[in-house]
Amino acid sequence: MSVHRELVCLLVVEVTFVSILVYVYLTSHQIVNHNTLIHKQGHFNLSVKEGNISPNDLRRETGQPCVFPERSPSLVPCQQNNLSEKRRILNESLPWIDLDATLNASMTLLPGGYHQPLGCASPQRLAIIIPYRDREVNLKILLNNLHRVLQKQQAEYAIFVVEQENGTPFNRGLIKNIGYVEAKALCHFDCFTFQDVDLVPESERNTYWCGARALHHSRELDILKYRIFYKYHFGGVITFNDTLFSTVNGYSNLYFTWGGEDDDLFQRLLEKKMPYEYSKYPRYTAMTHKNDPHHTKEGRTLYGKRHVRFKNDGLNSMGRLYRLISVDYKPLYTRIYVSVNQTEVLTQLKHYGIRL
Ligand code: BGC
Repeated sequence: MSVHRELVCLLVVEVTFVSILVYVYLTSHQIVNHNTLIHKQGHFNLSVKEGNISPNDLRRETGQPCVFPERSPSLVPCQQNNLSEKRRILNESLPWIDLDATLNASMTLLPGGYHQPLGCASPQRLAIIIPYRDREVNLKILLNNLHRVLQKQQAEYAIFVVEQENGTPFNRGLIKNIGYVEAKALCHFDCFTFQDVDLVPESERNTYWCGARALHHSRELDILKYRIFYKYHFGGVITFNDTLFSTVNGYSNLYFTWGGEDDDLFQRLLEKKMPYEYSKYPRYTAMTHKNDPHHTKEGRTLYGKRHVRFKNDGLNSMGRLYRLISVDYKPLYTRIYVSVNQTEVLTQLKHYGIRL
């Protein structure tokens, strides 16, 4: 009888042990598969059927260190409720100290203009890149509106104001590429919005996050009575996921003065047959400012040579074109201050037969 009891006990111990082994094997096997999948792709999971993409499908996990705090992985996903279609635009330019105080009243902003929603996890981390020089009033008004919109949308984001040092003509394409590269050096971001400093979103439903397609947000401006500029206009405010932006090799670095770099970018999307779409809430208010010098005929020649340039003019040719002067974590944004190497840009332009 006692031998029999011992045998039964042994059997129970053995079965338990084997079950534990099987359980451990299965769980670790799942984990291994999961990591391998993410690691192998190295970028967003774009195999999901277009149109059915949820922001979760686009989230890339990386082990990359981040200057901004990581949120707790245990939080529930954020919901986007009560977004109003038409919002009241705040168009007063407050002194910085008041603006910092009002936008920080809820204490949810961290230095560098970084925000994580409270109590829930946003499925994507977004970098807002604002190319900037000499537009302080516009910047204050934009920040006052944009932080509120993004927080209402429960976005996890950081705002980067990329400022070009005086002394060289403004180069918006290069400055936006620099924003992309330098933001990535500070943290992993899933989406990149390139936002003109003078455009304020009119709807909270114009969501700032990325899907599988490049997104043009600012299709309709108040100053044009909300008519579309022209069919292929892709300027003002756009959002790309990381894969799309690197696939098109970013913006051209060679457009000095106002205009052209956004048209060039759109042609890159077409050339690479990359998908794009328009926001369903495309209205923006354009703020006034003094105008920059317009396109030059060289700019148009450059645009004409786009097909021979795309491959070698962009993210892969920025190395010698700029110097990072400083990165400053201000209360409402991260300031990336850079100097542009005009001589080097001119040398690259010469390579395409263009002399300025
Ligand atoms: C310029 C674009 C600009 C658009 C609207 C075009 O002529 O080439 O860069 O976005 O006008 O202002």
